[in-house]
Amino acid sequence: MAKTTRIAVTPGDGIGPEVVAEAVRCLETLRARHGLDMEWARFPWPSHAWHEEHGESMPQDALDQLQKYDAILLGALGDPGPVDDPDRYLLSDSVSLAPLLDMRKGFDQWVCERPARLLPGARQYLADERAKDIDMLVIRENSEGEYVSQGGRLRKGTPDEVATQIEVFTRKATDRIIRYGFEQARNRATNRVNEGRTRTFKTLDGRTCESQVCLVTKRNALRYWGDMYTEAFEAISKEYPDVATHHELVDAACMKFVQSPWAFDVVVASNLQGDILTDLAAVLSGGMGVAPSCNLNPTDPDMPSMFEPTHGSAPDIAGQGQADPTAMLFTTARMLEWLGRKDPAIAAAGKELFDAVAADLAENAGTRRGTHEIGAAICKRLSA
Ligand code: IPM
Ligand code: MN
Repeated sequence: MAKTTRIAVTPGDGIGPEVVAEAVRCLETLRARHGLDMEWARFPWPSHAWHEEHGESMPQDALDQLQKYDAILLGALGDPGPVDDPDRYLLSDSVSLAPLLDMRKGFDQWVCERPARLLPGARQYLADERAKDIDMLVIRENSEGEYVSQGGRLRKGTPDEVATQIEVFTRKATDRIIRYGFEQARNRATNRVNEGRTRTFKTLDGRTCESQVCLVTKRNALRYWGDMYTEAFEAISKEYPDVATHHELVDAACMKFVQSPWAFDVVVASNLQGDILTDLAAVLSGGMGVAPSCNLNPTDPDMPSMFEPTHGSAPDIAGQGQADPTAMLFTTARMLEWLGRKDPAIAAAGKELFDAVAADLAENAGTRRGTHEIGAAICKRLSA
């Protein structure tokens, strides 16, 4: 018998608990309806509240506890809000966000997947009609690069202070993220063909492919890792002659994301450049309220992957029941799909949740609704 799928639910700070409550409601509905062999446990950490009480954002053995689960569903971390309360318990950004980076690192969640597809009903920020066709997947290297936290401060607090922040890029991590990008491009092409919505991308030698991977670097200035990424990309692309290849410098990529985002399919970027590009990609596909994200370890089945929307704790609207849970619910759908690799019933529930969230979005374009109203409407759809 397959073992029960177990989810660690970590609501976190700010709007995190509000949007997570709707995700859990949907999970409950799906479990009851399909008799899914799935359970979850809620953790009050990591959070500001835990830090206020215990002097640390999460217990020392937090990662050991979380490792017993198949996935982590995280709301948001950061300023808990409300912003008009000057006495709220606040931590510095680097302290409050550390658990997120600790989990990514500790569980070697080396892929950060951020799809940006402008779905019907989502807000279209770009005036150009072609923006309706935006459908890209940004794959962010999630284990090293600019985020290795190596460096230090010398002569701190003096006029002669020096700060160093070192970037580390290994060939191993470079190869695996690029290969992952090509695999996703292939999967996306297959899915599109199955759904009868093909796309075409030209290769430099004039061939036409169903999918594309665009590598983003800043190799004109950051040449060491830029050149290594380029060489790895060229070598690995030979294994995928069916996938078109492309390269953009990160500054030009920002421009083209706005100018012609519909021309991108899969985008592979470094940790920091991927972080920046995905805030932009989120807005292009409807805003933070609808932008899903996940941190995956595709190689080690003993390591839980973490599912958390791209948005933060949104202290400006925290506690008001106004946060849009759509991003969280799309993220939850992706989690079920991921967990469904071992249990097809869970994968089917993920697809059902995605369809319900997309249908709700399409039907309610432009209407202002509260967090619970949206969650309840989606649950109702799931129960119908
Ligand atoms: C994100 C966030 C984090 C990141 C922060 C909170 C450390 O911006 O998930 O995109 O930079 O990775
Ligand atoms: Mn970010």
